Order: sequence, then structure tokens, then C-alpha cells
Amino acid sequence: TPKYNIASIPADGIGIEVVAATIKVIEHLAQTLKTFEIEFTHFPWGSDYYKKEGRYLPDDVLDVLRKYDACLFGAVGAPDIPDHISLWGLLLALRGPMQLYANVRPVRPFPGTRVRFAESKPSDIDWVLVRENSEGEYAGQGGRSHLNQPWETATEVAIFTRIGIERIMRFAFETARSRPRKLLTVVTKSNSMRNGMVLWDEIAREVAADYPDVQWDKMLVDAMTVRMVVKPESLDTIVGTNLHMDILSDLAAALAGSIGVAPSSNLDPTRKNPSIFEPVHGSAFDITGKGIANPVATIWSAAEMLRWVGEASAADTLMTALEEVCRKGVLTPDLGGTATTESVATAVCKEIEVIAATK
Ligand code: NAD
Ligand code: IPM
Ligand code: MN
Repeated sequence: TPKYNIASIPADGIGIEVVAATIKVIEHLAQTLKTFEIEFTHFPWGSDYYKKEGRYLPDDVLDVLRKYDACLFGAVGAPDIPDHISLWGLLLALRGPMQLYANVRPVRPFPGTRVRFAESKPSDIDWVLVRENSEGEYAGQGGRSHLNQPWETATEVAIFTRIGIERIMRFAFETARSRPRKLLTVVTKSNSMRNGMVLWDEIAREVAADYPDVQWDKMLVDAMTVRMVVKPESLDTIVGTNLHMDILSDLAAALAGSIGVAPSSNLDPTRKNPSIFEPVHGSAFDITGKGIANPVATIWSAAEMLRWVGEASAADTLMTALEEVCRKGVLTPDLGGTATTESVATAVCKEIEVIAATK
């Protein structure tokens, strides 16, 4: 049986709670199916580590992580540390430098959630958001000068490269091609942003020539927010910049149901570096320690991780179990239920056994 070594980085807040629940489920899945083995290695990187060590990550972090097949990440962010310090210290210090350039965020109504608008049918929303994950406003360029002067100046410089745009565009066209509707929408803001966004439009047209079977269109990001709300059924695969898709993916998660179920994969499609799988949500200070964080987003992310390492059938079993548990109403308070993080995980483990027994 194949064995996978996974780096676990729960980090902060509810990240710690949902990753613990997810590891329990995945280990149970492996023990029940017996078709693969999996071992999680825990890394303590997070805000407590930062307070002790003065940094979020060791210097050799990239060499350490390269020994693993994939990483499972929770969330980073603590109430007593500025968010830009924690995020640039940990998560953003991995996504960019490891060239995990494709951030994939599937969005569909999950059992137990409901679409946000009465006029939308659940089937209207079945999207894959493809987020460029290595450049744009997240390239880390810019700075501050003339501190505390009236003319103090701060710049955020968005960096877009031909290589960076082309690789994410090809990834998005491939994703669209792999789905039944073969439909891609390219999101930019090439009316007011006349450099990077215009290059995005140009490269979209160039790459599209290689995918005559994919039907594609362009949207300005402001108009896109309206289309997602008003005509959700007209969308399928969506690609855009790091910042635009950060914003649109939260909107999409809320439209489809809840941020508590939204998964994400930070992929290195070249497979030189291990990909990172994590929920879309953050460390949620308001519910930390209460044991009520919804683990569905992280369990779904782990299913995507299994698919990525080559265990598609195990991933399917896990998703069937997860959906069945939610359909039966085992839901955390964010979805109107009374279940705990722990009880959802336990229910998923039991459901896995039921499915395995009928196979
Ligand atoms: P958040 O996602 O942590 O929380 C937003 C709201 O959603 C809160 O009311 C929270 O209780 C709720 N929520 C989120 N996940 C939930 C879950 N699994 N189950 C039930 N409810 C859930 O976003 P925020 O409040 O803007 O950020 C809190 C901290 O997390 C900040 O430090 C922020 O920078 C950080 N953050 C980290 C990541 C990440 O590590 N990937 C992502 C987003 C935010
Ligand atoms: C996300 C988060 C991160 C991002 C933050 C916490 C740095 O919002 O993964 O969507 O902006 O990418
Ligand atoms: Mn976000």
C-alpha cells in the first residue's frame, strides 16, 4: 500500500481545532479502507511559536517541507499580533516562495447549507475559482516613507509577469476543459488598471487560442460581483488575480452557503514543492476554544489533498461520508445546528465505516 507523509501546520485559533478533527477523520479513513497509509508530522509554527522564537518559521522551512507529500494547514492570526505580521510571517511566506501558484477554491452548496438568495436554486452555483497565488498585490513590493509626516506615503505595488499570468491562465483553461460545461470567465479590471490588467486580457486571448473547445468570456471585477449574485448559473470556472479572487472567493462562499465549509488548495502544478491544503476561513478569535468551529472546510480540503496525492477513490469515500453527515443534520452552530467540532468528526468516522461496509 502507498504511504503518504503529510506535514501538519495547525497554527492558530480554530485552525488547531479543525486540523485535529480532520487528522482524526483521515487516520480513521486510512485504517478503515486499508488501501493507503498516511502519517502526519506536527509542526508547531504559529503565533505562540512566534512569541517564543521571535519568528513564525525556521530558516530552513522550505527544505523541511520538501520532504513531505503535502501540507495540511489550519489558520494563522492572533488577537495580539498585527495581522500583516502573522500572515506574512507564515502563510504568505510559504505560498509565494514555494511557488504554489494555483489556488483552487471549489464552491457549491453543501448539504446543510442554503443558498443565500431565495431566487437562486442550489444547482445555480457550481463554480471553481482559480486564484493566481504568487504575485499581484501579494508580491510584497512597496513600502512607506516620510513616516508620520503629513506627506507620509505608502505604496502597494502589484507585480504581474508574463510567466505568472500565462501559467495560471493555462491552469484555468485546463480546469474549465475538465468540467462538463467547459466554461471559463476571466476576471480583470482592465478599464482603470492599464498595465497588469491589460496584460492579463492579452494573455487570456493568446492562451484561449489553444483551447478552442473552451467557451470563455471576460468580466471586470466590479461587474463580476453583480453577476455572481444575479446570474450565478451563467458561471462555471473563474480565474483572476490574487487580490480579486481573494475577495470573490469569500463572496462565493457566502452565496453558496457558508465560509465554514469552503475549502482551498494551494497547488504547485509542477509538483516540485508540496502543495498546501487549507480552509478558506481564518483563525476566528470569536469562537476559539469553544469547540464549535465547523471542521467541514478543512475535511473537504483534506479530501482535495488525497485527490492530489493520487487517492481519488478514498477522497470520494470521504466526501460521500461528509455530505451524508451534513445531510443528516449533524451541523455546527454556524449552520444552525448544535453539533461540536468533535461530534462532526466522530459522525464522519462512523459514516466512513458504513460506506466501507457496503462496498
Ligand atoms: P475568520 O474567517 O477567522 O472569521 C470570520 C467569521 O466567520 C467569524 O465570525 C468566525 O467565527 C466565522 N468562522 C470562520 N470559520 C469558521 C468555522 N470553521 N466555523 C464556524 N465559524 C467560522 O476571519 P477574520 O475574523 O477576518 O480573521 C480572523 C483572523 O484570521 C485574522 O488574524 C486574519 O488575518 C486571519 N485569517 C487567516 C486566514 C488563513 O490563515 N488562511 C484566512 C483568513 C483570515
Ligand atoms: C485567504 C486569506 C489570506 C489571503 C490572508 C489571511 C493573508 O484571506 O487565504 O483567503 O489574503 O490570501
Ligand atoms: Mn481571503
